[in-house]
Amino acid sequence: MKRLLSAVSAVYAMSLFNTGAIAQSANDGKEPFGKSPGGKEVFLYTLRNGSGMQVKITNFGGRITSIEVPDRDKNMGDVVLGFDSMSGYTAKPAANAYFGALIGRYANRLAGGTFILDGQTYHVPTNENGKNSLHGGTHGFDSRVWDVKQASTNSLELHYLSPNGEEGFPGDLNVTVRYSLDDRDGLRIDYTATTDKDTVINLTNHSYFNLSGPGSGSILNENIMIDARRYTPVNANLIPTGALDEVSGTPLDFRAAKQIGSRISGNFEQLKLANGYDHNFVLNHPGDLSAVAARVEDPKSGRVLEVFTTQPGIQFYTGNFLNGSVHGIGGTYTFRSALCLETQHFPDSPNHTNFPTTELHPGQVFHSTTIYRFSTK
Ligand code: GLA
Repeated sequence: MKRLLSAVSAVYAMSLFNTGAIAQSANDGKEPFGKSPGGKEVFLYTLRNGSGMQVKITNFGGRITSIEVPDRDKNMGDVVLGFDSMSGYTAKPAANAYFGALIGRYANRLAGGTFILDGQTYHVPTNENGKNSLHGGTHGFDSRVWDVKQASTNSLELHYLSPNGEEGFPGDLNVTVRYSLDDRDGLRIDYTATTDKDTVINLTNHSYFNLSGPGSGSILNENIMIDARRYTPVNANLIPTGALDEVSGTPLDFRAAKQIGSRISGNFEQLKLANGYDHNFVLNHPGDLSAVAARVEDPKSGRVLEVFTTQPGIQFYTGNFLNGSVHGIGGTYTFRSALCLETQHFPDSPNHTNFPTTELHPGQVFHSTTIYRFSTK
């Protein structure tokens, strides 16, 4: 199988991270956002493009707190769930929902919190009901304060050094994430990572989208297309069985756009196990940033979201754990009132040799790109 982690020279890798002084130029949209649980000051950055799109990101967890784009009548409105203060993100149960966050070191699940690498067994926190490791463990990248390497009107570059052994993962891992806006209402996320020891990584962003606006109710009337002929079915713990099943003939077939709610309550075991959609789709065009990996259309607002990615998979999650106990920007976050499209490598890949590798070795540079592009129809 084609290896998706590209290797370039270690010299190039070093030059990426030893750039010296932190550049802090031309971002007038920087404001205090409070203090992290560890007492560090964190900030909120406002990015703007030339056509009015506005995105707010905090360096606490690299979280996107809002994305404002026009609807079909050219009214600007927010399309992600979020909070306008730090306490919103750190209070439970919101803290366990990863709103808008950068996720690492290992996005999605690692069965039993273990994996074997170079013949050695590693144990990472089983922070999902004591069963699996979810989204990097107890203190994943979502709760770290990221260094701001560069901030401009339409971009923000964040860096985090995850030290060897953090949350049980081997190697000093240098991660850079660059958010940037283009003038066609695209939010681009570039992820880069290097390590000094063999390790495993899976990086994503965990934004919850509702194209009618956060707090505006169910997303079941929105339509989705996912460019995937296969998916990775899961067991009762939401761990992939290892199979790469065809979507054909199942409620997971979104190759032609379908209303999200049209089959979600059907008598299909995978939907029952996850209480809705919470599955990794195997993209038909991995590595191809020009292919639409997923497309969501909201008949109410007329807004359209297209996802492009170099990653091999995408987790389509219909907010099945939202239950109305969280109140954020826009109101109450009720059951299935948002969807996530988490571009990623497959869940639990280190424990499945038939999945694309998530290993990263010294001298290699991991790079992936995802674009969330907004429009109307
Ligand atoms: C991911 C998982 C879901 C859930 C959310 C956070 O999308 O796949 O099962 O854990 O994160 O609530």
